[in-house]
Amino acid sequence: DANTTLPPLRLLIAAPRGFCAGVDRAIRIVELAIQKFGAPVYVRHEIVHNRFVVDSLKAQGAVFVEELDEVPDGVPVVFSAHGVPKAVPHKAEERGLDYVDATCPLVSKVHRQAERLVDDGRHILFIGHKGHPEVIGTFGQVPDGRMTLVETVADAEAVQPADPDNLAFLTQTTLSVDDTAATIAVLQRRFPSIQAPRGEDICYATSNRQAAVKAIAVQCDAMLVIGAPNSSNSLRLVEVAERGGVKAALIQRADDIDFAWLDDVRTLGITAGASAPEVLVREVVDRLATRFTVDESEVTTASENMVFKLPRSLAAA
Ligand code: F3S
Repeated sequence: DANTTLPPLRLLIAAPRGFCAGVDRAIRIVELAIQKFGAPVYVRHEIVHNRFVVDSLKAQGAVFVEELDEVPDGVPVVFSAHGVPKAVPHKAEERGLDYVDATCPLVSKVHRQAERLVDDGRHILFIGHKGHPEVIGTFGQVPDGRMTLVETVADAEAVQPADPDNLAFLTQTTLSVDDTAATIAVLQRRFPSIQAPRGEDICYATSNRQAAVKAIAVQCDAMLVIGAPNSSNSLRLVEVAERGGVKAALIQRADDIDFAWLDDVRTLGITAGASAPEVLVREVVDRLATRFTVDESEVTTASENMVFKLPRSLAAA
């Protein structure tokens, strides 16, 4: 039996991992929009940050563009799960485009808080990663100059708001739980009256996936994170694993596995970012099984049952 000659590899598969309710909903929205309007349906920005998902939707008739200007007149357009500045739906309305907003409801919740805080006359310190589409979308909910980006603890130490007694902070949904806590601690020390968000802005899926990685990192020699290089929550999972004391690698698919990197690994942790489909996890496990005798087990640190409602315009489709 050829299998008996393969070296053993123990796999600890994190749960929860992979798709969150917001990603699930966003993909469903594109599929339903294609059913309702017929192809092509345009999508502004990658609907979620995963090439496999984008390619499958392209095959069904979705066309991905970065800006609304690239959407021809008369065709429907979907906005990605990360959210968009207010100017985008406004422009779509002006042009009379049919649009469907696939912004995750947990991102929209942050948008509404931002508006309310600015209405109350507060200046917002926004903790997030510069250039990420979610950050661009959230900044685009309020007039210019009402929100300042804080990326790091160092930024939190340095920021000099004009009215330090009239501040609030909000955060991106996919940040490192630990780094964000440290950044918030600095802001609260420097600006004792700063208003905190109602509840956490970091979403349940982000914190659950990070907690699962923390729990298995202590039992592993290495960790593979399945996700895209532009996926914020996936990048954070790599960091959490590394801080947990194991080497970690971000891979998009089984083809990216570096078997030399696995040479001394006896126990391998596996997880997937919130935009990575489960089929890619199975593909990775199957590929590993061509080189190792794998002994696979799942380590569950939380159970999730979040489901978000579809937009009313598509719910009946
Ligand atoms: Fe939403 Fe969190 Fe997923 S903000 S899209 S549930 S990672």
